[in-house]
Amino acid sequence: SITSSPGFDQHESLAFHHDPETGLRAFVAIHRKRDGRGCGGIRYRPYSSEQAAIDDVLRLSAAMTRKAVLAGVAAGGAKSCVLADPSRPKTPALLQAMGQVVHSYGGAYVCAPDVGIGTEDLAVIRSVTPHVVAVDHPAAPYTARGTFRGIEAVAEWKLGRDRLEGVRVAIQGAGNVGAQLARLLVAAGAIVTIADTDTAKADALASELGARSIDPTALLDAEADILAPCALGGVLTRASVERLRVRAVAGAANNQLADPDAGRALASRGIAFAPDFVISAGGLIAGEHELDGFDESAVHEHIDRIRTTVLHVLERAATQSITETEAAERMVAERMGTR
Ligand code: NAI
Repeated sequence: SITSSPGFDQHESLAFHHDPETGLRAFVAIHRKRDGRGCGGIRYRPYSSEQAAIDDVLRLSAAMTRKAVLAGVAAGGAKSCVLADPSRPKTPALLQAMGQVVHSYGGAYVCAPDVGIGTEDLAVIRSVTPHVVAVDHPAAPYTARGTFRGIEAVAEWKLGRDRLEGVRVAIQGAGNVGAQLARLLVAAGAIVTIADTDTAKADALASELGARSIDPTALLDAEADILAPCALGGVLTRASVERLRVRAVAGAANNQLADPDAGRALASRGIAFAPDFVISAGGLIAGEHELDGFDESAVHEHIDRIRTTVLHVLERAATQSITETEAAERMVAERMGTR
């Protein structure tokens, strides 16, 4: 049932929106408003059931609050999940109906892209509501910049390196974030290995950068200093952690740990971990600046603070003998005054 969904009673609101004319069916969850608003992407994909969409939207909106709090962003977390109907196309009318939904929150919900919703879709949504970010300033390059700063922090903490020159980074996913991260790393002198299930995409990026591309099924076994997951979530399980031949994991993919057990497996193997909700906040930070007046250098300066935050998380995990995720969650609770 809805009320037994994980995290249900920690949310401010959960609503179902239905527009029979366009076929729009969407859940919007606001986990927490801070400064009167909750920010989070619109996910558009088929779900096996309404319950699956509810579980997804609740988990994702709570994660957005954690991300915003640690990034020093004046917003709470929210999310929407649209149940895509594989038999009907994603029409402009459906997107506009979603825009009306967003608008009905009067700015308490600010939306952004997520899986299945690209910049063009968001531009349609923005034709009916101003409460949209990341159309004029797409998020991925900012997310990549923050991830790069997090990788610098991990290299300093775990490898004792104050520069990335010669540091070997294996990137999973040559998509919007992974490709931009690869460019930043190569420019900094890192030695990059890249894999994508779309092997042509990985090969093209590797040849652009003079990097190496490998078979995606071999990436988790690749010997490197740092693994940067930039594809899908759930990549770290107890079993996959056993395969790793790296000293740290630091990448942008959301929800990399399939379960807390995977975090403990990393810790017991002495592999440092930069929690994804800390390191992947660059796009969210850029989005907040869009709401409050966008100045590129101020955005960069804000994103660059991710380096310090990741260092604090790593230090705290070590001194308190807890996982990095637990350390980051304690920091969130302290900053929110709930502990
Ligand atoms: P994207 O869809 O542009 O790229 C993902 C890439 O991963 C695709 O090229 C896909 O072919 C590849 N891929 C899928 N499964 C794979 C596998 N098993 N092995 C290797 N490659 C695989 O997505 P984007 O925007 O680059 O995001 C990447 C990750 O970062 C996602 O988990 C996303 O949720 C997360 N993220 C993205 C943000 C953004 O600003 N775009 C913000 C915060 C998190």
